[in-house]
Amino acid sequence: MPVRIDNQILVNAPMDLVWEHTNDVAGWPDLFTEYAAAEILEHDGDSVTFRLTTHPDPDGTVWSWVSRRTPDPATRTVRAHRIETGPFEFMDIRWEYRQEAAGVAMRWIQEFAVKRTSPITEDGMRDRLNRNTAVQMAHIKQVLESRARDGAEHGPGDLHAQRLLYLTCGLRLAAVVTALAELGIADLTGGGPRGVAELAELSGAHPDALYRVLRCAASVGIMAELPDGRFESTPLAEALRSDRPFSLLPLAELSAQPFVTMSYGALAYSVRTGQPATTAALGSDIWRHFEDHPDEGECFDRVMTDLGRWETDRHLDAVRPERFGRIADIGGGHGHFLAAALRRAPDASGVLFEQPGVIPRVDPTLAAEGVLERVLRVGGDFFTDPLPDDCDAYVLKAVLHGLPDGRAERVLRAVRTAIGDRDARLFVVEQVVSGGNRWDHAKFLDLDMLVLFGGRERRLDEWRLLLGRCGFELVNRPGEGHWTVLECRPAEETGETEEPR
Ligand SMILES: C[S@@+](CC[C@H](N)C(=O)[O-])C[C@H]1O[C@@H](n2cnc3c(N)ncnc32)[C@H](O)[C@@H]1O
Repeated sequence: MPVRIDNQILVNAPMDLVWEHTNDVAGWPDLFTEYAAAEILEHDGDSVTFRLTTHPDPDGTVWSWVSRRTPDPATRTVRAHRIETGPFEFMDIRWEYRQEAAGVAMRWIQEFAVKRTSPITEDGMRDRLNRNTAVQMAHIKQVLESRARDGAEHGPGDLHAQRLLYLTCGLRLAAVVTALAELGIADLTGGGPRGVAELAELSGAHPDALYRVLRCAASVGIMAELPDGRFESTPLAEALRSDRPFSLLPLAELSAQPFVTMSYGALAYSVRTGQPATTAALGSDIWRHFEDHPDEGECFDRVMTDLGRWETDRHLDAVRPERFGRIADIGGGHGHFLAAALRRAPDASGVLFEQPGVIPRVDPTLAAEGVLERVLRVGGDFFTDPLPDDCDAYVLKAVLHGLPDGRAERVLRAVRTAIGDRDARLFVVEQVVSGGNRWDHAKFLDLDMLVLFGGRERRLDEWRLLLGRCGFELVNRPGEGHWTVLECRPAEETGETEEPR
């Protein structure tokens, strides 16, 4: 039986503004708290086909689907349906706008049936959609009413200029997120709304200054101010909770480090020269900077380890370390990944190849994971020293994206030399940058690589060429848009000869 849910909200703003802004699909990430991206795929007459991508849900899952909608300004109605139906048999949506004395009544009618294979029941889906629709409508109301107030004061305002203005606030927004993270606000409001004075006391903040930061955060959907002046968490703020899997707290901490903020301040230098901005901005390359500022270096190591752990299980599902007898992790950091691989492969041994300065710090991790006796620790330089030649699996995780093609080739060739004519596999754990205009965090990570390390994130065709030049071929089909495993084997012959960048 199809389920029908019907939600309505009154928006105190002019009809034209409500109609125009809610039908500007490309602007939905600024209007809904749940969408990270809205990509227009096609305009066809009055209809628009588009892809929506959500922010990660509390389980860290990002949802994405294609829909099509047809607004009819004459009747102030919109018909829409999902083209990629996901868990639904079908999902049809009708929006109605009605002018009332106190504003515009915006009504959403959603009709759907849930697939029999869906893990969520129809009742569960009804509850979830009803809850989320109410949250989204309340947020949209708040945003539109605030835009209407701005428009009344400053003229009609251009929606696109407003959005650009919003984007140019990015530096300030990142600082607001960092402040919320440092003060632990999301943890404090996790159990329900709290007043500013209480939040200030609990977090050790100045009440008025905290209010101003919270108000700013609420204006972009990270917190919400209630009519009684208390603040509550929104789904976005939930991602800053310290007790959540896939918490974004470590990233917020990293983004605020001086080596990031100062280097990004010199992004234009990198754009002009193609070189990292670190020497211009920090006075040395990044590794030297970490030696001179060990607190920043430790933060970098810690956050890389935290984030790396997010996906260890998924990556190991792809690697299947049980297949191998001896696994080398080249540039393996403190050994978390190798240790997790060896725990899955109790009969295997491992080699951790790292810079000599890192090797003395790896034992605690390996010991804590109970694999210390099975791991040979080798200090060396992967550009100049021979790599272990007795392994049947080699891992290069988050190493190659920090290097330009020429230097990445040297590392790959060193692995290829170590393998010789043996039957061994190479696992490159990296991002594969997605094509088109799609939102992809890798496109920003790529700028980190440019500005900080002189490296780059690569598309799949770029990976194939790079690997091919070094005597490897891909044997799997890695996904795009997230960290993934590229499984490679020695190629029959090296056909690709394009010049390295
Ligand atoms: C971004 S970290 C990745 C660490 C680990 N693979 C992970 O995924 O957490 C890059 C690692 O490469 C190591 N490294 C950098 N240059 C190296 C070199 N010339 N020889 C050996 N290791 C190196 C660094 O010490 C660092 O641990």
